[in-house]
Amino acid sequence: MRDVAIIGVSQTKFGELWDASFRKLVAEAGLKAIEDSGIEGDDIDSMFVGNMTAGLFVQQEHIASLISDHIGLNPTPCTRVEAACASGGLAVRQGIMAVASGMNDIVVSAGVEKMTDVVDPTPAIATASDQEWEAQQGATFPSLYAMMARRHMYEYGTTREQLAQFSVVNHKNAKNNPNAQYPFEISVDKVLNASVVADPLTLLDCSPVSDGAAAVVICPAEDAKKYTDTPIYVKASAQASGSIALHDRKSITTIESTKVAAKKAFDISGLTNKDIDAVEVHDCFSINGILAIEDLGFVKKGEGGKAVEEGQTERDGDFPVNPSGGLKARGHPLGATGIAQVAEIVWQLRGEAGKRQIDGAEIGMTQNIGGTGGTAAVHILGRDKN
Ligand code: COA
Repeated sequence: MRDVAIIGVSQTKFGELWDASFRKLVAEAGLKAIEDSGIEGDDIDSMFVGNMTAGLFVQQEHIASLISDHIGLNPTPCTRVEAACASGGLAVRQGIMAVASGMNDIVVSAGVEKMTDVVDPTPAIATASDQEWEAQQGATFPSLYAMMARRHMYEYGTTREQLAQFSVVNHKNAKNNPNAQYPFEISVDKVLNASVVADPLTLLDCSPVSDGAAAVVICPAEDAKKYTDTPIYVKASAQASGSIALHDRKSITTIESTKVAAKKAFDISGLTNKDIDAVEVHDCFSINGILAIEDLGFVKKGEGGKAVEEGQTERDGDFPVNPSGGLKARGHPLGATGIAQVAEIVWQLRGEAGKRQIDGAEIGMTQNIGGTGGTAAVHILGRDKN
């Protein structure tokens, strides 16, 4: 296997984007990443696109063909990758594997979702849960995560305020992210007093419904400096599967797939949590941010809420989490999220994150999950080759 580098990244603005069509969004992200990388369009050997459900949101299937055609890449192979909200993370991983194996030299991995064109996105999102046992019985994603939150509060004494603080920190970071959907600050009181979506979660514990796209360009590490002065190296790419339905799990306060993928990523890279300067986690709901920092091993099980309350996850804290604003405030266009997380870590490691820059960041991590944890993708990236 060859070592692999990321040489170009981009993200469109995330939000309710009435003027942008599905194809325009992914073209904008793809072309900007190509421009950022220094490659020519003809250099591209293949493209992977993470997307959860264009069929339900914009009534378009066969999107890989649509995208290669629209970007002008025909006849380059283009493949759609689907794993619910982890579609983007797996599209990055497919690109890394294609380059590492020697099958391809230059790959573009993109992610896109256009969620706001339907009146009610909730049933479409719910297709990422177990249809027979969850969605058809009336469970929605907010309600599944609300059960996980209640159980975490019961088992570990996590407080309502600690959950709210996770959203507060995200919004504080998003204020400095020009691509964020909600670049403004909120307070714990505001979270607690917002409309209840699924008790105990309120509107401000939830990631929004978003449109957006992101893309990365991947090449062999040994060639990276031909294209850019600031390649970022892939230290580990790991993936794991877990039970899709909550009732099939030993515990609903641990996401096993995250734990397994994180362990693999640390084993592959030879790094530990202490080496990570910035981490982008999958906080689709505030509770999931807390589960993520526990299951990735930054704190012991049950201590996530306390760590957030103490400021350990802030940009100047012990282990900065979601400098981009996370899913909560940057936005969560499902298939684009895993790619946007990688783009943010690349900007942080290049020192290009502007006012949200974490000083001296050298190693970063991303965690992207599908559904309530049926799939997890974890990546570790570094500024230095070795
Ligand atoms: N955070 C902050 N503000 C939000 C928000 C969020 N998550 N969602 C909506 N808003 C704001 C809107 O911008 C709008 O503001 P405005 O009145 O100033 O324009 C207002 O709240 C009402 O927006 P609306 O679109 O009517 O909200 P909604 O009630 O239809 O949807 C949720 C709110 C929380 C139900 C929706 O965002 C949601 O389903 N989120 C979860 C998405 C999800 O499950 N993703 C997959 C995770 S695995």
